[in-house]
Amino acid sequence: MHSVAEAHPNIALVKYWGKRDARLNLPFRGSIAVTVAPLRARTAVTVHRSLDADQVLLHGSPADARFAGRVQAFLDLVREQAGRDERAVVETESDIPMAAGLAGSSAGFAALALAATRAYGLDPGEDALSRLARRGSGSACRSIHGGFVEWKPGKEPGGSDSLAIPLEPPDHWDIAIVIAVVNDGRKQISSREAMARTVGTSPLYPAWLRRVDIDLPLVRRAIRDRDLRLMGPVIERNCLAMFATMWTADPPILYWQHGTVEVMEAVRRLRARGVGAWFTIDAGPNVKVLCEGADRERVRGALSRVPGVRSTLTCRVGGAARRIPGEGMAVSGAG
Ligand code: DP6
Repeated sequence: MHSVAEAHPNIALVKYWGKRDARLNLPFRGSIAVTVAPLRARTAVTVHRSLDADQVLLHGSPADARFAGRVQAFLDLVREQAGRDERAVVETESDIPMAAGLAGSSAGFAALALAATRAYGLDPGEDALSRLARRGSGSACRSIHGGFVEWKPGKEPGGSDSLAIPLEPPDHWDIAIVIAVVNDGRKQISSREAMARTVGTSPLYPAWLRRVDIDLPLVRRAIRDRDLRLMGPVIERNCLAMFATMWTADPPILYWQHGTVEVMEAVRRLRARGVGAWFTIDAGPNVKVLCEGADRERVRGALSRVPGVRSTLTCRVGGAARRIPGEGMAVSGAG
């Protein structure tokens, strides 16, 4: 059996930062994100009766052991659900720099969840897919849906109620997300490790949880009312509060680089000139700037002139993860 699927990454507006169960990727709190296009990951899964071990390819070459191990563990979950034991070849292509804090794992595991379930003969609904994608990478549960998405943390110890739900479809609100790439190299500490260290050692962690409780309903309302002036300041303070927990972890975690701060200053200058633009940053040095769709070129131009910015990517609100029709189609060259 062979199946191909594609998913967009998502960028959190109220962050997922800290797990109550690390094995099941169960968060302490909910989070809200926007799915972004055209960035995407595309994954093909082909089940082979004759294989002794799973093969994991990234851009046509064998993936590193860490990534391959996570994919194999994920396939084990799918095989368990399907009652099957054949191994598979997984081929992934993505235009998102890996492990650079650009949410590549959210798109990757959402696409894998969709392709692997089909390849193993399962046909889960959206809720089951979101729960499954969560097991690969927490943020991946949000990339099953398009538009504006909320991950409900759930209360069940087994995680049956911890999944993402759509808040609004992609065409609800024409916002642009301009990503200022400061460094697309692999980060030293994964978000998984950083999150665990923060929960375990930062004295600010309880304050972070209070921050999220306040920010979630505000961002929910801002999305409903398409109110960027309400949302902007909330997403900036939410992201900065997350970093405060990292700086106060033991040992501290520092993801920012010079360019990161330069972009934040450029965003403030844009606002001083009357352009509604606000930033958010994930576990890495790169900055994502939200603005109204009509302002995208002005924002992109300003960010591309910042000395520490290597490139900019202008994104829009993206759609849901989807299977690519045409079984038997290889990933390479598929577009
Ligand atoms: C800072 O979803 O990559 O981007 O569940 O361990 O795979 P794991 O973590 P991951 O963490 C994302 C953290 C974040 C914030 C967010 O996306 O909400």
